[in-house]
Order: sequence, then C-alpha cells, then structure tokens
Amino acid sequence: MKALNLSILPVASLNNDGQKRAKYLTISQAIRDAIKDGKVKSLEQLPSARQLALQLNTNRHTIMAAFNELIAQGWIVSKERKGYFVAEDLPVNGSKKTKPITQNVSNFRWEFTKNVESSPIQSAVKYRYNFAGGTPDISLFPFNEFKSYISDAFSRPNLGELNYGNTAGYSPLIEQITEYLRRTRALTGRDIVITNGSQEALYILSQILLSGGCSVATEAMGYQPAWRSFISSGASVVSIKQDTKGMIPEALEEAIARQIKIGLPIKLIYLTPLHQYPTTVTLPINRRHAIYRIASAHNIAIIEDDYDHEYHYRCQPLAPMASDDPNRLVIYLSTFSKVMFPGARIGFMALDRTLSNAVVNYKTIVNHKVSVPMQDAIARWMQAGDFERYLRKTTKIYHQRRDFMVQQLAHYQGLGKVKSFAVPDGGMAMWVELNQSAKWLAKKAANSHIFIQQEEQFFVDKAQSKDRFIRLGFAGMSIENIELGLKLIFE
Ligand SMILES: Cc1ncc(COP(=O)(O)O)c(C=O)c1O
Repeated sequence: MKALNLSILPVASLNNDGQKRAKYLTISQAIRDAIKDGKVKSLEQLPSARQLALQLNTNRHTIMAAFNELIAQGWIVSKERKGYFVAEDLPVNGSKKTKPITQNVSNFRWEFTKNVESSPIQSAVKYRYNFAGGTPDISLFPFNEFKSYISDAFSRPNLGELNYGNTAGYSPLIEQITEYLRRTRALTGRDIVITNGSQEALYILSQILLSGGCSVATEAMGYQPAWRSFISSGASVVSIKQDTKGMIPEALEEAIARQIKIGLPIKLIYLTPLHQYPTTVTLPINRRHAIYRIASAHNIAIIEDDYDHEYHYRCQPLAPMASDDPNRLVIYLSTFSKVMFPGARIGFMALDRTLSNAVVNYKTIVNHKVSVPMQDAIARWMQAGDFERYLRKTTKIYHQRRDFMVQQLAHYQGLGKVKSFAVPDGGMAMWVELNQSAKWLAKKAANSHIFIQQEEQFFVDKAQSKDRFIRLGFAGMSIENIELGLKLIFE
C-alpha cells in the first residue's frame, strides 16, 4: 500500500499548540485525529518515520515515539519490514468493537429472584410543605464548619485506612461512637460496626440471620424499609398488636406459638422502643422486660432501632434495651441520618462480638467498607465537640417547633378539625387523630403541595387501618411553614 500524502495531517496546529506538551504527544494526537476523522482508513499504511520527520521538521526519534504511543493505544500496528498501518479494529470509544452477533438472537428477559418493585417510600422533597415524619432540617446543618473537617480528612489522610480492610469501620470514628454511646445511652462493652446507614445494617442482619423458613415480629405499624429487608431474605413479617404504649407482650407470645405451629418460627423481633415508629410513644419498662423475657425464652434476637434518640425534650430518654441485655441478644442500631442528613449514609450497629464477626465478614461481600473520608470527617467533627454543639442547637429548635405544633393542633382541636393528639416526649413528629378520613385529608393536602403520611401507610396489614390518624413531622420545617401548612390542611 502506498504511503499517504502527509498533508492530510493538521501539521499547522503542531507548532502553535500553545501548551507545554511533549512534541511526540502532539504528533500522535494529530495522527489519531486524522484516523478518527476518516482521513486515513483502517489497514492503510502510514508514511515512514523518516518521511514524516522531514515533513514535520522534526527528528525521527520523535516520530518513533509518536508511533509507539499510537501502537500502545491500539490505533496503529507495526508490521515487520513493511512499516506502520492503521489498525483494523479502532479503539474509537475506548473499547474495541467486536463483530455483532447476527444469529440465534432471541428476546432476552430478566428473571428476577427478588422483589424489585419500586419503594413505597415517597420522596417528599418536591412538596411545598413537607410534613414527612423523620426529616431533619438540613438547612440548619453547618456545612462550612463540616467542610473544614472534610478538608482535614484529605489534608492529613490515614493512608492505611483508605485501602481495603478494616471493614468494621474507621477506628477513630468507632472510638468516638463508643464514647458517645457510653455517655448518652449507657451502652458499653459492645462492638461497633459502621454501616451505610441503618438500612445496610438491616440488610446484612436479614441476610445472615433469616431465611425462607422463618419470620420476624414487628409492631403492627412500623418502618417499611426494615420489613422490605427482612422479606428480601425470604422471611415473612408478622404483625404484633400494639396499643397506645407500643407492642403488647401477650400478643407477641401468642404469635410465637402460632408461628411455630405453621413452621415459620419467629427468629427476630424488630422494635423502635424509644419513639415508636410511627406513633412516637415510648415502650414502658415493664413491657421492655416482658418482651426481653419472652425473646430469651424462645431464643429470639431483638433489633432495637434507636433512630432518633438524640431528640428527646422531656427529661433524659429511657436507656436502650441493649444497655440491660444479660443474654446478649439485642442488636442496637442507630444512624446519622437524623442528626446530619440521610445522604450522609452513615449508620452503625452496637452488637455482641460473636455476631459482629459474622456481620463484618458478610459486609465485605456487600461493599467492603463505608466511605473512609466521610467517616474521618465525622470523627474529627465529633472529637472537636462541634457535633454535640450542633445537636444541642437543633434539639432546642426542634423542641420549639414541637411546642409550636402542639399549640397549633390545640387550636384546630378547638375548631373540631383534630380529635386528639398526645404530646410526644421526643422525636421529630406527632401522631394526630382526626374526625375524618386520614386518607382523604392526605390526598387533599397533596393537591395543595403538602406532604403528610396517613395511618394506612404504616400498617403491615393495611386492613387494620381505621383511617383516622396522620403523622405530622415538625423538625424539618420552620415555624412559619408549619403554621401556613397546617392552615392549608385544616382550613
Ligand atoms: C425507624 C427508622 N429507622 C431508621 C431510619 C434511618 O435509616 P438510614 O440510617 O438508613 O437512613 C429511619 C429514617 O427515616 C427510620 O425512620
């Protein structure tokens, strides 16, 4: 094949590139562009290095270096004693194309082995007024302050921790959380495992403790993402009756017997004892003890989801069940989603050593570890005391918002729009009884760009809904917006 006319290359641009690039790279790029533009076709021969050097007024070694670069990238090939040729398969978009399959083409269909329906959890962010129950006010977050800890994490990185390994979590963050749990939740002597939010903890626990032949007991109303995790392992979810104080121990005992009979024994109890999700009531001590005794007698583990314990306004919150756990059967979960924002994706488990080893081993299959720079920044934030300062600030603000909402609901109760409500000791939402259909009100609110959740959404067994309760979050909204939003809902 005859050598190509060198004038096809954009030679002029070679000398006024303007950038300090090695000349051979500029030349190899010009040849590559010529190939890409189709000015030189696949299998065509390139001019020799000597010819090209003459034309470009450079030396042969520079051209050889350019050719070698193009060979390494797959654009040209060298043929012994013949010269340089454009490659047959060009790496046009970074990958080599293969010949398309034209025979035996069928209509391929995915066969899913898990439920892949979209989550029933709705995104509330697009609503003008967002009364979603567990939403923190992210606009209060001290982004500038936190930025300096992120910056420190990158300025003085711990190179060893940035690698694989240390699956349980970044040790300075584990130390901070251990100390924090000791002081605020009377929790000691447990292993900490940092997770990608508490959702990952629920998923891992479901995968290693559950199977198709068993079930999980939950409060009749609860947190759907947790159930979805349990169900993903093949287990079924058993709804246990609750009243105004939370799960009823006698109902749990009956369900345990029933499930054994049908061959789907209960292996786990999932509880939100401090602020029951969604009703916000605190499970009293006598019920905690009764449930614990029942769990111990039947070799059942308890997952205690302590998702928003930071926000408690009346006295100190009750210590978690995990702090009085002689049989080491309580798995404690918590999260930074409420004290920072859900997108931080940092949660943790505090658990017994015999379980934590299994959790850590399984976690390597899921995602190896949680983002180390984020863990590092949070550890620095906690150590400096800024985390708890921010907590004190938000607790005060949320407390004021709760009191404001109580005052507003009392007003609407006076107008006959609200039937009853209990003032929650803590948490981020209120559970409110109406004189009308909760579903209808939520629909009407949505039409006015207001997000509220209604009773039926929280039931395991939807038929149990009396269609009278709504959950109103107060933490995530300013007092002005709470007032305006409630006005639109009730007037
Ligand atoms: C009961 C409950 N547990 C846990 C979480 C937090 O989940 P994550 O840590 O995965 O963001 C929430 C958030 O809404 C919740 O309501």
